[in-house]
Amino acid sequence: MNRTFSIIKPDATKRNITGAINKIIEENNLVIIAQKRIKLSKDIAEGFYAIHKDKSFFNDLIEYMTSGPVIVQVLEGENAVEKYRGIMGATNPENAEDGTIRKLFALNIQENSVHGSDSDTNSKIEINYFFDENEIINN
Ligand code: CMP
Repeated sequence: MNRTFSIIKPDATKRNITGAINKIIEENNLVIIAQKRIKLSKDIAEGFYAIHKDKSFFNDLIEYMTSGPVIVQVLEGENAVEKYRGIMGATNPENAEDGTIRKLFALNIQENSVHGSDSDTNSKIEINYFFDENEIINN
């Protein structure tokens, strides 16, 4: 068992489809062992996406990620990082496979409904950025 970090993004909370996304997560045997609905501040969003700070899309990304509530989550399961990336589909929904969250729900490459960690190292960093260990309940 291992863990990954997920964000259900503002385009999804605005359309009230967080339950539909969680249903897909759970149907694929990932367990939501922590979850909270929050509004990201500019500082928190910039810190989270610091790796992208030199990218052309950075300012738009921060504006979008602070435009409405998000759901931050910890998911647990076998090969959770890889499994969730498969369930999410490609960053750009035009390239995402049928049945993936982004193919089903994403609006475009920015408003792509979900974020998931890209490695075990980053999942630990991202989980620690938003959660205390005592907020994570897996049994
Ligand atoms: P995410 O997986 O959260 O990682 C970075 C985010 O930046 C990405 O999803 C999108 O929401 C956003 N983004 C906007 N434009 C691009 C782009 N051209 N390439 C990658 N990510 C982009």
